Amino acid sequence: MPALVDQHWPWWPLLPLYPYGRRRTLVRELIPGQVWSFEQLQGIFYVAVPIRMTVLRLREGLLLYGPVAPTRELLAQLRQLEASYGPVCTIVLATSSGLEHKLPLPALARAFPKAQVWVSPGQWSFPVPLPLSWLGFPPGRTHTLIEDGLPHEDQLVWESLGPVDLGLGRFQEVSCLHKASGSLLVTDALVAIGAEPPELFEADPTPLLFHARDRGDEPLVDSVEQRRKGWQRLVLFASYFQPAPLEVLPLAQVWSQAFRPGFRNPTSYFGLYPFRWQRGWQEAFWALLTNGQPRLQLAPVLERLVFPRHRGVLLEWLRRLSRLQGIRQMVGAHYQAPMVCTGADFASLAAELEARPWAPSSGDWATLAAIDDRLLEWGLVPGAGPQ
Ligand SMILES: [Fe+2]
Repeated sequence: MPALVDQHWPWWPLLPLYPYGRRRTLVRELIPGQVWSFEQLQGIFYVAVPIRMTVLRLREGLLLYGPVAPTRELLAQLRQLEASYGPVCTIVLATSSGLEHKLPLPALARAFPKAQVWVSPGQWSFPVPLPLSWLGFPPGRTHTLIEDGLPHEDQLVWESLGPVDLGLGRFQEVSCLHKASGSLLVTDALVAIGAEPPELFEADPTPLLFHARDRGDEPLVDSVEQRRKGWQRLVLFASYFQPAPLEVLPLAQVWSQAFRPGFRNPTSYFGLYPFRWQRGWQEAFWALLTNGQPRLQLAPVLERLVFPRHRGVLLEWLRRLSRLQGIRQMVGAHYQAPMVCTGADFASLAAELEARPWAPSSGDWATLAAIDDRLLEWGLVPGAGPQ
């Protein structure tokens, strides 16, 4: 594990969360009359990233894939869709491990008491395994995908990625092809990262401006360039936790720059800014895109922490997707959507992942590798498995 991580890593996540209970929803119609995106900002430590719920129009009404918080604003917008296309009939939580998608489910299900709820197999809780009803999933109308069947199979094709044993629980994600629109819905497995900040940040660019700075006592300045800079740094945080060009500062140095006049407010985190970006950080961002455009890819966090010893499981899923008829775009729970693609793109991705070194441990990947090494050392994740 690099010295920087050892010295400073443990404390910096213990800092304020965003967006402090305020949550806006951006609704976009992705495919007219068929598919809608409901995006909210979700904060984990310093990293506030958009999270998406996708709404599909089915013959029976609306299907919600990937729950987000049922704020008054979100419910008002969903009621408008219901008036045109029928009631919310099905809510799907398609991941067993993605906490940010799991937490909003109970409240969303309560807002639609007539909807059937489907969840990925292998839902788990830590430190004590609890039954689904104790996790807030409504009893009597919660079903497990695959184990209890699959909903709307005449209109949807379901494909499971995993399960993969993570030690404490499992990773499993069930993707879904909406045949009418050619939309493949995924949760965390695949991403398409854009160069520009998502539109959701237009309502509140604070998280971008925060990261666009170089010191804690530098004021938050709003400009197109600062928003773009902040977005690109946020993507690097979310992708690698601590990419190679990011130095995490000692607490004493962070403290010395904090609480200055003009910074004694939560918007600027009281001037607490424990990062210093080294030259070359932009190259790390651009490497996540192809010629400045989004590309279909596996998120580095998943490659290094979920699939480091299970590449075969991922490749097999990608090849199953490549054989599906009629994929025209992918809609993930994070980043750019819709991402125009066809089945052939999933076959190409599988071939590319098979050909290059898997789950690297150096450069930008060093922190993810160090976390994996530590989990292995503590016996919290299983060691060698199928490749
Ligand atoms: Fe996620």
